[in-house]
Amino acid sequence: MKLLITGASGLYGSKLAKLAIERGIEVYSSDIQDTSISGNFVKLDISGRAQVGEVFDGIKPDVVVHAATLTDVDKCELNKELAWKINVDGTINIAKAAKRLGAFLVYISTDYVFSGEKGYYVESDSPDPVNYYGLTKLEAETVVMSMMPESDFFIGRPSVMYGSTPAAGKVNFALWVIESLRKGERIKIVTDQWNTPTLNTNLADMTLEVVERRLSGVYHTCGATRVSRFEFAEKIADCFGLDKSLIDKVSASQFSWPALRPVDSSLDTSLAQRAFKCKPLTMDKALEQLKRELNEKQA
Ligand SMILES: NC(=O)c1ccc[n+]([C@@H]2O[C@H](COP(=O)([O-])OP(=O)(O)OC[C@H]3O[C@@H](n4cnc5c(N)ncnc54)[C@H](OP(=O)(O)O)[C@@H]3O)[C@@H](O)[C@H]2O)c1
Repeated sequence: MKLLITGASGLYGSKLAKLAIERGIEVYSSDIQDTSISGNFVKLDISGRAQVGEVFDGIKPDVVVHAATLTDVDKCELNKELAWKINVDGTINIAKAAKRLGAFLVYISTDYVFSGEKGYYVESDSPDPVNYYGLTKLEAETVVMSMMPESDFFIGRPSVMYGSTPAAGKVNFALWVIESLRKGERIKIVTDQWNTPTLNTNLADMTLEVVERRLSGVYHTCGATRVSRFEFAEKIADCFGLDKSLIDKVSASQFSWPALRPVDSSLDTSLAQRAFKCKPLTMDKALEQLKRELNEKQA
């Protein structure tokens, strides 16, 4: 099976490429810059329609996992044209090429398609994003649903991703908390934003099951535990034996981000729990896995 990944040097794409290769899948890792870790690297800017067509014709993938996104929520708010070009037009280019070649398309979306007023969203709840990033991701979901045959696409929605390796030039939240507390630094974490954080390995494992079983539809593919950012930081500190008295409680109102954040965009994973053999992990299990991965890296 030929698997083409977009955004393959990102936090999720890099883990997916690694795990797919371990399962013997022929992996093509595409990204804007050559910082991909595993797989056959393919330079690809998804916003260039002709380039997307050429790359797809060259590889003829059986499956495409589309994760390339402008993920910086504030940058999307400040540069709406760029956000649309990458997140929406880029997805149109990918869906067109996938459909033309009869490839199965997995689109990685987000909990930010929801307003955050309710929390524990199920797949049938109506999305209503509060920021431009969420709006472009929702529009991209619509593109995939309207362009692809029903049995040929899967949309997975993760929430606040973390993992054992910095990727795409960024340190993720869990690694930042661990590093800061290990150095004895005080950190301020908001108590009034809730999500269902997702270990990238768990999402990558679920994606590989989707690819192998050709599961289609929209699923909440995130962690199984709803926490506030503050609770998440505390759980990280507990799991890694770090001093949680260094974590100060703050309210989101103390920050002036350009983009609004949903208050509670946690997702209900019941559907995925029933459908998948590889289930969304509880936070305790996911953090234990993160610890194992960090220990393996040090060994
Ligand atoms: N991280 C989270 O907390 C989170 C939460 C919910 C959902 N998600 C979703 O999960 C997916 C993966 O997220 P992630 O955290 O792995 O993202 P990431 O680490 O930011 O990686 C995204 C990758 O896409 C690349 N990219 C950006 N513009 C591109 C373009 N025009 N053409 C080709 N590649 C381009 C980026 O390259 P550059 O770095 O060079 O720009 C980066 O390598 C995304 O769809 C995201 O919306 C993420």
